[in-house]
Order: sequence, then structure tokens, then C-alpha cells
Amino acid sequence: MSSEARKEIQDKELAAQGARRCRVGLCGAASCLSSGAQAAREALVKELDVHKLAGEVQVYSTGCLGLCDAGPLMQVEEAGTRHLYQKVDADAARRITAEHLARHRPVTEQLVDADPFFAKQQRIVLAGSGRRDPERIESCVADGAYEALQKAVTEMTPLEVIQEVTASGLRGRGGGGYPTGLKWSTVFKAKGQRKFVICNADEGDPGAFMDRSVLEGDPHRVLEGMAIAAFAVGADQGYIYVRGEYPLAIQRLRTAIKQAERLEFLGGRVFDTGFSFRVDLRIGAGAFVCGEETALIASIEGGRGTPRPRPPYPAQSGLWGQPTLINNVETFASIAEIVQRGGAWYAGIGTPKSKGTKVFALAGTINRTGLIEVPMGITLREIIFEIGGGIPNGKAFKAAQTGGPSGGCIPAEFLDLPVDYESLAGVGSIMGSGGLIVMDESSCMVEVAKYFMDFCREESCGKCIPCRTGTVQMHGLLDKITRGEAGPHDLELLEQLCTLVKDTSLCGLGASAPNPVLSTLRYFRDEYLAHIVEKRCPAGVCAIGR
Ligand SMILES: Cc1cc2nc3c(=O)[nH]c(=O)nc-3n(C[C@H](O)[C@H](O)[C@H](O)COP(=O)(O)O)c2cc1C
Ligand code: SF4
Ligand code: SF4
Ligand code: FES
Repeated sequence: MSSEARKEIQDKELAAQGARRCRVGLCGAASCLSSGAQAAREALVKELDVHKLAGEVQVYSTGCLGLCDAGPLMQVEEAGTRHLYQKVDADAARRITAEHLARHRPVTEQLVDADPFFAKQQRIVLAGSGRRDPERIESCVADGAYEALQKAVTEMTPLEVIQEVTASGLRGRGGGGYPTGLKWSTVFKAKGQRKFVICNADEGDPGAFMDRSVLEGDPHRVLEGMAIAAFAVGADQGYIYVRGEYPLAIQRLRTAIKQAERLEFLGGRVFDTGFSFRVDLRIGAGAFVCGEETALIASIEGGRGTPRPRPPYPAQSGLWGQPTLINNVETFASIAEIVQRGGAWYAGIGTPKSKGTKVFALAGTINRTGLIEVPMGITLREIIFEIGGGIPNGKAFKAAQTGGPSGGCIPAEFLDLPVDYESLAGVGSIMGSGGLIVMDESSCMVEVAKYFMDFCREESCGKCIPCRTGTVQMHGLLDKITRGEAGPHDLELLEQLCTLVKDTSLCGLGASAPNPVLSTLRYFRDEYLAHIVEKRCPAGVCAIGR
């Protein structure tokens, strides 16, 4: 594929879109599909025929539009206006066709008031969701896909690409927040017979669905980021390690890779240069620990997915002992815009130490659950009460859990905290990969800590003793507390175990497993004491004495 050929595809597709009066996008991501988006689409297509509108209206699938709990969602774009419809079943699709598309009368009672949801969001990673049809590469190319790759390989040197990524201040979105430019530069400098690029799409945190949504909604953005990374560090082979529980993401990735190979954005001689890059999928079997980079690499190599001590880091000695760049889905999905618009532009968004935007999956007791992308530095209050619409049923906010089983619970007193890596760590939680679970007054915080410890206990790979045994013991103590059978000594023991497991575990799973306990103890100690001393669960969740 030459640069001219890419431009031709883009122009042709844009002309085809321009020739239609109107574009109708139906969310084709997992949540909307499971609530009936396909039936709505079929009804829409039939009804368009009835009204002889098939030639005027372009129907396409979009990625997740964000407001998942209002799904299936449908957006109608016409002459610069956008209407977003919610709960679109087959009947609603027929009505919208007959009224809005045929008679220009929007069906107001079905419209969703999206302004409060979108007003404070800034979309970079999710920019294509809504504009790109994830199953048609031409639609993505029309929207600018592979333009940044073209720029990188035809106008820039690998070092210049790394400089832009470094200047952007982007930090790894997989949880650790390691500076991406620095990691790329280490792999660039590392010596090896061959280098590899791995995209970590193992996303195992309970409540997290950011990476799944990005892969389902805009797989080409991730492939483009990986190809730019490969060019920058000198790799010719990439792997996407994606969990088997994500069949739609896997299917979309397979299609996207085939299409990108067909148009020669992947493969030999990318944009008629000497750069070649191939991508293969590896499907994970659902072990949380396989998201840890050394376990993931062992799993790709065909071994058992258990972590090994670092150093050496994968950047020096990774897949098959070769220098390997491993980044998260969202990290790769941020790259094309950084290359296109410059590192300085990206660094202008966010806070001094946490640049750019972050995707969060809003879950729990919140009015609007769904997928959002916000500039770093936004407050939790803005996320939960303005974007998320607050807490349902007039209940009071109690805590926000970020970082999943490695994270912590943030109480109401920190609602005005800016969301960035340092601030969240300062209050005993972590940014994590983007799961944000909101809890109201009816949650018992000891039960929440027990839930996450149960998860870690189940997912511990068992390689090292502190984690294998410590998570079981900590879970046992938490269980004893929730049953009202624990004494003050058990609380002491629990705290000692937390420190021990944190300090002596081999990998991040064990090292961070105590975090949910430590943070709930820090802010909700009175709840622990109520269970232990008064034999009472203040939220009425635990079955003490029942
Ligand atoms: C137990 C455990 C699970 C992890 N799971 C994931 C995951 O699902 N996705 C991910 O990107 N990183 C995960 N990580 C972090 C990776 O080890 C690694 O730091 C990350 O993929 C690097 O990419 P980034 O620099 O773009 O964040 C996990 C780490 C641990 C300790
Ligand atoms: S000490 Fe225990 S875990 Fe370690 S090798 Fe011996 S039996 Fe296995
Ligand atoms: S900390 Fe836990 S998950 Fe990590 S290597 Fe040790 S036993 Fe396995
Ligand atoms: S899955 Fe359709 S809006 Fe999120």
C-alpha cells in the first residue's frame, strides 16, 4: 500500500458517505448486542426498504458509544446534527425510521439527553467509537486510520517517534503507569537477534471492560499503535494476548488483521518502505495472573502462565529471551493521535505528572454505568455525579473502588481529589487499568474487602508461599469477621499478614492483594470494629447472628 493508495481509499469512502443524506450507527459492542441491537438493526434495514430510503441512509455498526445501560443505542447523523436514541428495540427502530428518517420528525421520547454524559469527556482512545465501523477497514481509513502509521514510517525516524511518545508524557494504562517513551527507548537500545511487540489484552479485573470495548469498537486503532511501536523499537512480529472470554473482540481483531493485511498496512513493505510487521493473536484461558507481563510471555511461549522474578525485564529479555515491548491496549490506542498531533499536544492535556486522558468503566451503584474517557485531573465528583449522574434511589455515596483487586476504596471525603496516578496512590488506592466501581451506603466494606481477597485467593498461581497461603489466611480472617466470630486479635493478625504478603510476594498479584483490606481498614475501621466488638454489620449485609 502506497501513501497515495491509502488516500484514494479514504477519499472514495468519504465520497460514498457524503453521497448519502444521513448515517445511522447502531452500537455493535457486546452490551448493546446482548440487549437486542441485532434485532433493531434488522428491523431498521427492513423498514428503510419499505420507505425506499436504502439509497439515502447509510447503516453501520459502531463501537461502544458509552451509555451502555441505555442500550441498544442508535445515533442518527444528518446535516451536521446528531440524535442519540436509547433502548432501541425492533419497534423503536421501525418508528424512528418512519418518523425521523422518512418524515424528519425526531422521536423525542426515545432520545437520550447525552449532554451531561459527554460534556466533560475528551475522546482520544474512544474517538473512533461512533465514527468507525469496526468491521469495515474502509470506514476506519476514511476516519484517518493508518495516517499516523504512514507519517511515522515515511516521514520520521524511529528515534523521532520515540521522542514524540516521550514528549507526550504517556504512561502505561495497564495499571503500573510506567512512562511509555522510556520503555520504548529501552527496547530500542536493547540488543537481540529479533524484537517483539506484545499487546496485553488480558483485562482480568472484575468490573473492567475498557480494553474489551476498545478492541470491539476500534481494533484498527490498536493495530496501528502496535505497528508504530514496532517501527520505533525495531520489531517485526507482534502478538495480541486476548482473553478467551472476549469472543467478539477476538472476532473483530481477526477480521481487522485480515483486512489490514489485505490493504498492506500490516505485512511486508508497509507503505512501500523496508518496514515489515505481522500480528498474531494468542488467546488466554482466563487466569488473572496471565495479565502479569512475565506470566503472559511464559503463556505465549507455551509454558505455564506463572510470573518470574524481574530483572531481567521483558524490555531486555522477554519473549524467547529477546527484547520485547509489552504495552496495554489503551496505551497502544493512544499512540496514533500522539504521532499525528504531536507529543506536546497530548502533554497539554491532564496534570503535570499524569498527561492525557484515561478510559474508565463505570460500574456499581451509579445512574449511568458505561464507558467514559476523561482528561486526567478531573475529580471523582465530576466523574460520579456529573458524568455518571450520581447515585440511584436517593441513597448516599459511600466509596469508589479503583484498581480492582490491586486497588483501594476511596471514601466521600476525597470526592474532590483529582484523578491522577499520584493523587490516587496518596489516598491508598491506584489508578489501575480503569475499573471504577461505585458503592452506596448499602455496601458493607468488610464484605467488599472479602470479595476482592476471595478473587486473589482463587487467582493466586501458587508459585510463592506468601501469596498462596497468605491470601487464603487473610480471606479466612475476613470471613470470620463477617460472621461475627472474630476477636480483636484477628484484626491485628490481619494487619500483620497484609504487611507480610505485600512485602514478600513475588509478583504484583500478591504484592497488591492486601490493598483493598488496607484501604478499607484505613477509612472504614469503625465497620470492622462494629463486626468484631458489637457483632453487628452496620450496612446489614453480613449474616451475623442470623
Ligand atoms: C496480576 C497482574 C495482572 C495484570 N493484568 C494486566 C492486564 O490484564 N492488562 C494489562 O495491560 N496489564 C496487566 N498487568 C500489568 C502488566 O504486567 C504490564 O505492566 C503491562 O501490560 C504493561 O503495559 P503498560 O506499560 O502499557 O501499562 C498486570 C499485572 C499484574 C501483576
Ligand atoms: S516447600 Fe512446599 S511448595 Fe515448596 S517445593 Fe516443598 S512442598 Fe512444594
Ligand atoms: S505473588 Fe501470587 S500470583 Fe504472583 S507469583 Fe506469587 S503466588 Fe503467583
Ligand atoms: S455497548 Fe453499546 S453503548 Fe456501550
